[in-house]
Parts: sequence; C-alpha cells; structure tokens
Amino acid sequence: MRILISIISTLLLFQVSRAQLPSLIPQPVEMTIGKASENFSIDNRSTQLFISDNKLKPAADFFINYIKKYYNLDLSLTTATDLNRKNVINLTLTKVADPNPEQYALGVSSKSVNIRSSSATGVFYGIQTLIQLLPPNAKAFPLQVQAVTITDYPRFAYRGMHLDVSRHFFDLSFVKKYIDYLAIHKLNYFHWHLTDDHGWRIEIKKHPKLTQIGAWRAGTIIGLYPGNGNDGIRYGGYYTQEEVKEVIRYAAERYITIIPEIEMPGHSMAVLAAYPELSTTPKLPKKVAETWGIFNKFNNVLLPSEQTFTFLEEVLTEVMDLFPSPYIHIGGDECSKIWWKQSAFSQQLIKEKGLKNETGLQSYFIHRVEKFVNSKGKTIIGWDEILDGGLAPNAIVMSWRGEKGGIAAAKQKHKVIMTPENFMYFNHAQFLKDDSLTAAKFLPLANVYNYEPVPAELSSAEAKYIWGAQGNLWSEYISNPAKAEYMLFPRLDALSEVLWSPKAKRNFSNFQQRLKQQLRRYDQMGIKYSKRYWEN
Ligand code: ACM
Repeated sequence: MRILISIISTLLLFQVSRAQLPSLIPQPVEMTIGKASENFSIDNRSTQLFISDNKLKPAADFFINYIKKYYNLDLSLTTATDLNRKNVINLTLTKVADPNPEQYALGVSSKSVNIRSSSATGVFYGIQTLIQLLPPNAKAFPLQVQAVTITDYPRFAYRGMHLDVSRHFFDLSFVKKYIDYLAIHKLNYFHWHLTDDHGWRIEIKKHPKLTQIGAWRAGTIIGLYPGNGNDGIRYGGYYTQEEVKEVIRYAAERYITIIPEIEMPGHSMAVLAAYPELSTTPKLPKKVAETWGIFNKFNNVLLPSEQTFTFLEEVLTEVMDLFPSPYIHIGGDECSKIWWKQSAFSQQLIKEKGLKNETGLQSYFIHRVEKFVNSKGKTIIGWDEILDGGLAPNAIVMSWRGEKGGIAAAKQKHKVIMTPENFMYFNHAQFLKDDSLTAAKFLPLANVYNYEPVPAELSSAEAKYIWGAQGNLWSEYISNPAKAEYMLFPRLDALSEVLWSPKAKRNFSNFQQRLKQQLRRYDQMGIKYSKRYWEN
C-alpha cells in the first residue's frame, strides 16, 4: 500500500511539475515559475492594457486583435498612468538600453502583467510570449495567465523565412497570414521570392510587360517532374505596387523586414518572355516556363549588355523605392553558362574586361549590380553561387548548396545566412512515405530542430559572420495555402528554436512535448499543420 501511495504521489508530483511549465516555443533564455495563487486573470472588459509610449501601439494592437479574434474578448487600451492600478497589462519602453536590442522581460503576478524592453521590438516579442501563456482551449472567462518571470532575447540577429510566389502565386491575404506566422515565432525577416522562370510577380511601372506577359504561363506540368503532361490552363498573378506597400506596412507593424528577391542573371524566363531582346537569342521565341527545374537547353539567361543593365537598374530603382529594407536579394543561383558560351557579345565582353571565362562574367555581372545597389545605400544578398569567380565586395551570402559557401564567405569576412537545402528546405517531404505531391527529398522535423547554423570549422572570430539562418519554401508542389501550411508546420517551430533559443537549451524530446500545446493553438487559429507527427 505504501508503495502504491508513493507511486501515486510521484505521478501526481510529475503531473504538477509538468503542468507548471508553460509550453513556450521558442524556448526563452530564462524562466522561473511562480505560485498558482499569483496567476493573473484576464477579464472581459475589466482588464486594461497600458502602454507607456505610442511606439508600443503595434504590440498592443496585435494583442488586442488576437484576443478579440480567438477569445472574443475586448481589452481597452490606455495611456493613463496610475501606479496602483490592478488588473492591468503594462507595456513599458525602458530608457536604459538592454544588452540585446531585441531583449524583453515579462513578469506575471496576480496584480499585473509587465512586459518591458528598451525597444518596441522587444515588447512585441514579449506579447508573443504572453499569447503563448493563454489557454488555447478556454471557453470561459477569466483567462488564466500562469505566473512566470522571463528574461529573453534571440541567439541570432537574422531569423528568416522565405516564400516562393513565382512557381505558385499566393494572394495578399495569405501573404499577410504568412507574415503573422513568422511574427508569432519571433522571426524578423521575410524573404519574398518575387521573380523566377515561372512567373514575374511584382508590378514594375516602367516595364509593364513584366506583368502583362511575364506574370502568366500558358500551362503547368502535371504531377512530379517529369510529370504526366501539361494541364494547359493559363496560370498567374502579381502584386500591384499599392498591394506591395500594404504588405510592407503590415510586416513593419510586426517588426518584420521584407527582403524582395529579383533574380538575375538566371531564373529569368519570365523576363525574357516579356523582353526577348534581353536574352542571348533575341530572335528565338520565349515563354514563361511551365515545367519545374533548370534546363540548360531551355532556360536562357540575361545577356550582360548595357540594355540589360539599364533595364535592371530601372527595375531595382522601383523595387528599392518601394521596399525600406536595407537588403535586396539579387538571386545569382543556377545561371547556365552555355548561353554566354554561345553568345558572341558575351565572349567579346569577357575579352574586353579581361575576365577568365563565363564564371568570371557572372562575377562581373553581380559586381556591377552590387555597385548600383550600393550607390542607393543598400546591400545585396545573393545565393552562394555569387562566390564563384570572386565575391562582390559588400555582398551577404545565402548558403544553400550545403554550408561550404557560407564557410568560405565567413572566412572572407562576409555576413552569411545559412539555408542549406538538406536542413532548411521545407518544400522537401516531412515523411519518407509522404501523403502528398512533394519534392522528392526528405527533411524530417528532427533534422530541422537539430540543425546548428554555426559550422564547427569556423573560429570564434569567423563565427560572428554567421548572421543567422532561414527556412525556404519553394512552391513547385505547393499550389495553395493549405499545402503551404502543411509543409510549414510544425517545421517552422523547430526553426524558431534554432534561431532564437540558447544552443544549450535545445532538446528535441522536450520540444516535442511543448509542441503538443502549440498544435492546440494552431487548432484554435485554424492552421492546417501536418498532423502525421503524432501517428509515427
Ligand atoms: C536555390 O535553391 N536554387 C537557391
């Protein structure tokens, strides 16, 4: 009997201690748990939200909208000061700078919830944590918020997620949802892959054919490449500049910088369908690509002519005028060299400029565009092929063909974003036997979770150039929002912990436990995440 009582009490203790730990993702740096009697209650209408500074309005609005949408609860916002106020959520901008500019402190007691930071960004992240302290299944008020004390800040300054809107187009409302998904995971960069062979997706006023022609393809390959024919259905879409501005505003209110990508000199079939004179074979007909993949024989590239550079400068000027981001992604990947080999103009340019070969020409191309972008006060980011033939002086490298490019760039003292395809491509299957049409590669949740962005071979001085990492969602086989959510979740959760949480705090089995509660939140939000993890 004594043994039985002891087993039961141990089980109870285990239950209690488990229940005391809130399921936060990403895991915060430091957290202590208070007594249950110190829990805070959010009441319908009587709880107030106080902001010490108007700069905190985006964070307050995010919380007010969230709690209205998912709990039908009205909170009132006040800027009135009353030091004895009770039943209040205080958002405070502090004067003394935190050691990490994105740091926040969160304290919950029965009297109040206090979120403090020296930056509005930090307060916004505190709000994201507070949201995760809310019970996702609550049907009755008041909402109980667990008593905790948290000090938190990110491990990496660059925490990114990408979306390819060229292979398939995602409308404005989904792009905004996607930005919300990044925000609730404390990510701060959205890489918007706006142009590729399969469609040009941003209005450029000076070159209207980019969207009149380049945004539309006559059909799409059916099934997994090489496929079962072509559906013959006209497909496309694009964002007007007004829509782009709306998305930029929406992201800024969530402390997310949008990095637009304008691909060059390869991945340009949509451009060349609209303006074949910019290709190496201006007289041959071109069309927006309908089949996935890169084919040397089919995918022509930009001719490195003055006309092309003028065109690119005009496009980039409009893009840079629209996007406040200090960074512009210029692609640079998978540019087939056969076209420049066969082009008399390109060969002449190689001779004239004293370049070694076509790889030298690619480097010349990127250097030249970098100079223009730099002249506007902005910095280029490129895929790791921009290392080939010599890196442009100020470029940031996105390492996707493994980590080699990133390591080489860091050794050359260039900032690096790690996005190796074997760990960070969320378009790859989550299961060996996937239940949907998916790129034929495998990336399970655990591999994302266990990814370490700082390669062991870098010295500590070199490691400082690893700016962060990013997940990529290429959309060849992702044709609608539900599929995008299926591929994104819960791998986005794993990514957020790689990017935010201290390395020593990462633990996959503990993460899986916390994920259960996160998935209840996704149920509440109507997110169509992959449920198969629980069946394995
Ligand atoms: C890439 O996947 N081509 C960057």
